[in-house]
Amino acid sequence: MTNFDTNIFESLESEVRSYSRGWPAVFESASGSWIRDENGRDYLDFFAGAGSLNYGHNNPVLKSALVDYIVGDGITHGLDMSTVAKRDLLETFQDKILKPRGLDYKVQFPGPTGTNTVEAALKLARKVTGRSSIINFTNAFHGMTLGALSVTGNSMKRAGAGIPLVHATPMPFDNYFDGVTEDFHWFRRVLDDSGSGLNRPAAVIVETVQGEGGVNVARPEWLRALADLCAEREILLIVDDVQMGCGRTGPFFSFEIAGITPDIVCLSKSIGGYGLPMALTLFKRELDVWGPGEHNGTFRGNNPSFVTSKVALDHYWSDDALHKSTLAKGDKIHQAFTELANQFDGSVSTRGRGLVQGLVFDEPENAGKVCALAFDEGLLAETSGPSDEVVKLLPALTITDEELNHGLAILADATGKVCS
Ligand SMILES: Cc1ncc(COP(=O)(O)O)c(C=O)c1O
Repeated sequence: MTNFDTNIFESLESEVRSYSRGWPAVFESASGSWIRDENGRDYLDFFAGAGSLNYGHNNPVLKSALVDYIVGDGITHGLDMSTVAKRDLLETFQDKILKPRGLDYKVQFPGPTGTNTVEAALKLARKVTGRSSIINFTNAFHGMTLGALSVTGNSMKRAGAGIPLVHATPMPFDNYFDGVTEDFHWFRRVLDDSGSGLNRPAAVIVETVQGEGGVNVARPEWLRALADLCAEREILLIVDDVQMGCGRTGPFFSFEIAGITPDIVCLSKSIGGYGLPMALTLFKRELDVWGPGEHNGTFRGNNPSFVTSKVALDHYWSDDALHKSTLAKGDKIHQAFTELANQFDGSVSTRGRGLVQGLVFDEPENAGKVCALAFDEGLLAETSGPSDEVVKLLPALTITDEELNHGLAILADATGKVCS
């Protein structure tokens, strides 16, 4: 192992730290899909900042735009003032993302994190409908602030709230009952039954693929049925695309595969392009009932993120090359994982979409063991799921085939050691 000194991290940084425990190295620099520790050891990154680095670490195209902007004394902090960087981003977002998809959304800049955009979405849905209750799904993850936590499933995270988390009702996510129960049977029934005790919901919030929840993939037909049910009952549909948006599953928005148009969309993580904090809340034009400053925040105008976000949209979303290569690379991982599932029949299985792929272990602790062995061999991959039973891969979308093969070989080897 490395000889790094953890003292200051252990003595000064809160016990709440977590990634530093699973990956005991002190990281210093990074490029593309590689991250280097202070001892000069390189690690292949199958984690990509939890989905914030879809275009890789220090992507040279984004870096040079950022450097030019900083050297030119461009605005760094701008609250929600109008700036050139913001105008450039809005125009590009409209031209490259919204218009080609026929999406007539207004754009809100909430605070710069995923949980900020979720809070904005929930507040807006409540304000528009005058209702307070939200429907969420089993194993959902939406963030750590109280509103977002109230629609998050994980019991350990929920317990951290220290107060009752209310005004949210969980429904089964796709395949929760292993396909045995008809989709939405329960949801439709309680909506229609005046004796069910369900408060009429303002909105449904859903991830199309639950990343933190264990790489649970909603089928397009399930998403369509959900969108239809919401429309029928005048319930707003919020898609939380914080982790699965910006091309993670192939198309720019993860819901495109289902052909649905959510009322509200949450984006963060890779929307800034360079790993810089940024979030957007998108909503149908008629839902824009905010009063000026009714929902604000000091760091809504992180202009360096606007610069890298704009360049990323221009560079990667002017054609469908990234979309196609993401699907091809996702297939490659899926094939490798299917081989492991066949080899270790009954011990592992696989699921995913695009470049979010999971290797699911029947013995939950084996997922953590595989990640620990992989780290020893120079690969970063994290676990997810309610029992941390899934090795979740979120490589940069820009990863090369050779890098992918290298990491998959390490994982196959580690799985062999753990499962044999
Ligand atoms: C789907 C989803 N929503 C919201 C969040 C919260 O984002 P943040 O950690 O930036 O607050 C996450 C974070 O992983 C997420 O995956």
